[in-house]
Amino acid sequence: MELSDLNFSPLVEESLIHTFDCGLEDITSFLHDDALAYQAEKMANTYLFQDDDRNVMAFFSVSNDCLNDLGEEKGFTNNIWNRLHRFLGLSNPKRIRQYPAIKIGRLGVHQDLQGTGIAYQLMDFIKGWTILDHKPACRLLILDAVNQPKQLKYYDRNGFQFLLKNDEDKKTRIMYYDLQKLSV
Ligand SMILES: CC(C)(COP(=O)(O)OP(=O)(O)OC[C@H]1O[C@@H](n2cnc3c(N)ncnc32)[C@H](O)[C@@H]1OP(=O)(O)O)[C@@H](O)C(=O)NCCC(=O)NCCS
Repeated sequence: MELSDLNFSPLVEESLIHTFDCGLEDITSFLHDDALAYQAEKMANTYLFQDDDRNVMAFFSVSNDCLNDLGEEKGFTNNIWNRLHRFLGLSNPKRIRQYPAIKIGRLGVHQDLQGTGIAYQLMDFIKGWTILDHKPACRLLILDAVNQPKQLKYYDRNGFQFLLKNDEDKKTRIMYYDLQKLSV
């Protein structure tokens, strides 16, 4: 099955979410129990890919965010900013410490479709969709990746970079993707 065989739509109250299971309790239960409330409270919007029987086969949730200087205590040191600026290829006058971003809060693929490559189509979709929907000012996709080999490999293969070194032993690691890579 390809991602294009599935139907894309925003989460609504009637969505059949309870057949979804991605194998990670935190992520599955977010969709089952919290996603609608987050949406109603305008904290995160959730989007679904459903099969023709309306079973959710993949989903992601996003919110507006900003990578900024306020995280000094988290380890956002000068070195980190310099490395980020170099990576983004910004010349000196443009070096700012506030980057508009879209945060991928949660993302999951149904267990039945894991290992098929559909997760990569999903990330390509999210990148393109973010650019189209938020083109006016959004430079980065950011997320807190579950700090496990499978998740880190997935995001690495999808072009995401680690922001920090000091979160190597944390439960999650901040990662970012430069959406400018997609512009021509
Ligand atoms: C994280 C998640 C989305 C990754 O999806 P997945 O299908 O398991 O992804 P995989 O890394 O196994 O990739 C499947 C295969 O697609 C292949 N593939 C297909 N297209 C590819 C592409 N464009 N680039 C790289 N690999 C590709 C890979 O070779 C990989 O096989 P391999 O690992 O044997 O080499 C999924 O496991 C999931 O939903 N997990 C639970 C929830 C979760 O962890 N969410 C993220 C929290 S941060």
